[in-house]
Amino acid sequence: MQAHDWIAILDYGSQYSQLIARRIREQHVYSELMRFDTPASTLAARKPAGIILSGGPSSVFEPNAPLGDPRLFELGVPVLGICYGMQMTAKLLGGTVKPGHSREYGHANIRVSAADALFRGLPHDVDVWMSHGDQVVNMPPGFQAVAGTTACPVAAMADAHRRIYGLQFHPEVAHTPRGTDILRHFVFDVCGCKGDWQMAQFIRESIAEIRRRVGDQHVVCGLSGGVDSSVVAVLLHQAIGAQLHCIFVDNGLLRHGEAEQVEQTFGDAFGLDLHVSHAQDLFLGRLKGVTDPEAKRKSIGSTFIEVFANEARKMGEARFLAQGTLYPDVIESFSPIGGPSATIKSHHNVGGLPPDLKFELIEPVRELFKDEVRELGRELGIPAAIIDRQPFPGPGMAVRILGEVTAERVAVLQQADLRVQEEMAKLPNYRDIWQSFAVLLPIQTVGVMGDSRTYENVVALRVVESRDGMTADWFHVPYDTLARTSNRIINEVRGVNRVVFDISSKPPATIEWE
Ligand code: XMP
Repeated sequence: MQAHDWIAILDYGSQYSQLIARRIREQHVYSELMRFDTPASTLAARKPAGIILSGGPSSVFEPNAPLGDPRLFELGVPVLGICYGMQMTAKLLGGTVKPGHSREYGHANIRVSAADALFRGLPHDVDVWMSHGDQVVNMPPGFQAVAGTTACPVAAMADAHRRIYGLQFHPEVAHTPRGTDILRHFVFDVCGCKGDWQMAQFIRESIAEIRRRVGDQHVVCGLSGGVDSSVVAVLLHQAIGAQLHCIFVDNGLLRHGEAEQVEQTFGDAFGLDLHVSHAQDLFLGRLKGVTDPEAKRKSIGSTFIEVFANEARKMGEARFLAQGTLYPDVIESFSPIGGPSATIKSHHNVGGLPPDLKFELIEPVRELFKDEVRELGRELGIPAAIIDRQPFPGPGMAVRILGEVTAERVAVLQQADLRVQEEMAKLPNYRDIWQSFAVLLPIQTVGVMGDSRTYENVVALRVVESRDGMTADWFHVPYDTLARTSNRIINEVRGVNRVVFDISSKPPATIEWE
């Protein structure tokens, strides 16, 4: 996909590998993670402007340490080894590495001792973040030490002639405050990148690639109304128009007004060939009497596949299935410690389709991060209401209705949830909220309304901040917002007489209640 210059990052398993890609893309230079053992010939064919060897948890002393193809140093392309990547460079080019005693770990202050392209314009003392005990003691021929500390004399090395560099520390993390400058120097000054990678260009290239691959065939795309599938559908539609067929399954467990919004936005406004399956009754029928959270998820998952497969069969001759697989889902497979897991992950969304439905996958945003997908969506003209939408679980309201899921209880929760959404959206820092929603509890409590006693449902508010959904903290919602939300739910939603606020973090609690 690269008509422009780009940087290849070989991934040796560091938790920061993705960050390197991010930092470089932020400079408008495309970058991509590749397997740690990508052959030099493959790299040569794709003509990167530079190669970065990431860090990793291994030690070059381990018998099975992941090693790159030594011929990559002979391509004439600049190489930057970071941490483990530096130690491996030293080892492959004839230097020596000393096993570490973790003396330099965490914050360190290195002293720059020689003029060097990467450190140009930086002060003599630079704060950096180290995360590896091993260190280079004898540099390979042609290298000189550029920066170091007493305990780690070779914290940076360079062979300016061959344009091969090594850093013992991590320039990509925030704990190395001038790290972005160092990466910029590598990418622009050493590799000569222009920094002209833009979303508009990504769109043009994707469209050309999709057209080339699809030809006159047809593509099926599951549209959920979430960000990823919406962006994929609109991008494909721009590429192949009427050859795209979208399936939207209304399972009756969506947020208030969501199904209508999807139909209006994608069917009417964008003009997609949208097949809506109104399967509320089927889903709710299968959920009758089911109260166990796992049983609910299983029931909804298998019903979804059944409904989707039935719709897809109607599209007879479609050869491709489009998916909104994102970059973080795919890159684990490149890492020597990730194993084959990502191969499974990148397919798990289709997992379970019956064997008579054999699709080739088409994953047009598999090279993008979530916020890049949002940027792409904005560029494609998708409304902010969809692009900025909070994550919503596949099983929908079913995992927010504790106990049995019935049409009546879904209606109560949708109404309560609508009030939560409306009130939270008024907060100036609404964008700091990861998810905000209502949960319907399976108990009644006593209340009083006018002169009479009530015995009705309890709704819990769940509002959290999070970076990725893996961990989360409860969001400190201002008291007056809490008060207004509670009043509105109790006064406006029939069947609710009490509202409580969930103040648990994840872990040990989860974001969803089921
Ligand atoms: P938990 O509740 O495990 O949720 O803290 C973490 C994030 O994942 C979302 N979630 C799901 N998303 N299908 C999905 O597509 C699911 O079954 C599912 N369960 C939880 C949840 O909303 C939160 O963002």
